[in-house]
Amino acid sequence: MLACSLKMSEPLDQRRMRRLLEVGRTVLAELDPDTVLDRVLETAREITGARYAALGVLDLQRVKLERFITRGVDERTRRAIGDLPRGRGVLGVLIDEPRPLRLNDVGQHPRSYGFPSGHPEMSNFLGVPILIRGEAWGNVYLTEKEGGAFDEADEEAVVILAEWAAIAIENARLYQTSEARRVEIEKALRGSEATRDVAVAIGSELGLERVLELIVKRGRALVAARSLVILLRDGDELVVAASAGYTHGVQGVRLPISESMSGQVMERRSPERITDVAARLGIDPREFGVPDARSALVVPLVYRNTAVGVLTAFDRGEDGEAFSEEDEQVLRTFAVSAATAVAMARSVQEERLRSSLEAADSERKRWARELHDETLQGLGGLRVLLSAAVRRGDHEQTEQAVRQAIVQIEREIGNLRAIITELRPAALDELGLQSAIASLLERHREQDDFAIDADLALPDPQAGEPRLARELETTIYRLLQEALTNIVKHTQAQHVRVAVAEDQGEVTVEVRDDGAGFTAGAETSGFGLMGMRERVSLAGGTLQIDSGESGTLVRARLPARYLDAAAGAAAAKSDAEQAAS
Ligand SMILES: Nc1ncnc2c1ncn2[C@@H]1O[C@H](COP(=O)(O)OP(=O)(O)OP(=O)(O)O)[C@@H](O)[C@H]1O
Ligand SMILES: [Mg+2]
Repeated sequence: MLACSLKMSEPLDQRRMRRLLEVGRTVLAELDPDTVLDRVLETAREITGARYAALGVLDLQRVKLERFITRGVDERTRRAIGDLPRGRGVLGVLIDEPRPLRLNDVGQHPRSYGFPSGHPEMSNFLGVPILIRGEAWGNVYLTEKEGGAFDEADEEAVVILAEWAAIAIENARLYQTSEARRVEIEKALRGSEATRDVAVAIGSELGLERVLELIVKRGRALVAARSLVILLRDGDELVVAASAGYTHGVQGVRLPISESMSGQVMERRSPERITDVAARLGIDPREFGVPDARSALVVPLVYRNTAVGVLTAFDRGEDGEAFSEEDEQVLRTFAVSAATAVAMARSVQEERLRSSLEAADSERKRWARELHDETLQGLGGLRVLLSAAVRRGDHEQTEQAVRQAIVQIEREIGNLRAIITELRPAALDELGLQSAIASLLERHREQDDFAIDADLALPDPQAGEPRLARELETTIYRLLQEALTNIVKHTQAQHVRVAVAEDQGEVTVEVRDDGAGFTAGAETSGFGLMGMRERVSLAGGTLQIDSGESGTLVRARLPARYLDAAAGAAAAKSDAEQAAS
């Protein structure tokens, strides 16, 4: 032992001074209070040659010892001694009068309390208080110096050590408090950011899938979980709707509400922290894609008093620690906005589905009427014509009727073809949007009495420009079709202007006529305008109709989507750059 090689009885010599300074530097740099105490004890022993060293920490009232740390006492002896000292007897002297105390034989001191049985023999003793900002904080006790009693130099060395210890402990305490506060503030901040992001997602009507993804990712980061899953109620079961972190193939896993821990948390609506996942979850954690999960935090998702599911986080941090009460609090707060986000996203999804079903339904009705008005009428006429000829039995008349019928049939074939073309504009696939529109306009120019000016600025896939998404192409085509048909049906317009353009990620479709405008209340009478609105809303755009005595303007603005999303984004960017320059 290093202490034995030092000369103990002399005043504080150079070597011990150097050693003290060395220790002082490392002690002062230490930020963990327990490590500070360890170092102080070890050094006190080393520098004085004491066999036993102990450090007692006073309680808040400074009347007894709250902690007692020892060095030099082996485990067996410690067990034999039993309870750690509380600060009676000689140790109490240092508590009452916090100043250094040196004794040749501790048992001889008037306040000696006597050692309990099993306590090693101790005679010489050095006690030095640790004062933090002038207040007693604890004491260093050294006993059984090898080769004689503690001397003044020992006392001096331990006093210096105790002073440094006081500074280091105070530093470490301050650091810990400010560190704890910093971590707390950061956590609160992260919590509010995550909650805000999810709230923004609600406002922006993101799809359910994106909202769920946001929830699991932000939730996981919030409590530093290894993985986090969101389970949503589906009848009697909970279904994993999304997951983040170390999970694999977990989506769609189902578990019964009544027999699972997650189900109970949802029904009881109170969070639960568990440390024995395998035993308590009610489902093999492998099913969640987390085979070795140890701890979990399950928090209910409640929206307007209805439990809609749970968030389950597995294993905190890299080492899979258990979740704290604070984690529970944070995830619980987050779950409130998560539940709202899920409910909102679901209702938006249902609304979209409903309106798209309605649109499909009205489309069907529309074509039924079209077939009725056009083809069925024509075929009915044909039957009348032919059966009259047959009844008369006149050869010449029959021949004439058949000739007429052939003309009629040709017309009906033409009609049917037109209807089929309208049902599924094959032209879009064959020609591309720009040419399909051009040919639609051409048909109107041929059949109708108004003139059409057209300005088409759409991407040209032939020239390597990204093609618009097929759905969007159909929407644009149908809007024009309906707007033009309405002009034919409801106006005496002389002049029509059509403009379709894609620019900076947006497509605008405009049809302007110089007819007499809408008659009051007319807008709600048919399917056409309703279908237009639904198509535009499904495409995420807006529709505006301005009508007055001098005509009507129908204008739709649609966010551009492309067949190849990446190419589209690049095109939009270069458009924007051009615009900026
Ligand atoms: N460009 C227009 N100018 C004047 N009135 C119009 C114009 N477009 C539509 N309207 C009026 O709005 C009404 C509703 O139009 P909408 O397209 O919804 O139905 P429709 O054309 O009557 O029937 P459908 O489209 O179902 O065959 C029309 O009946 C018509 O009175
Ligand atoms: Mg119409």
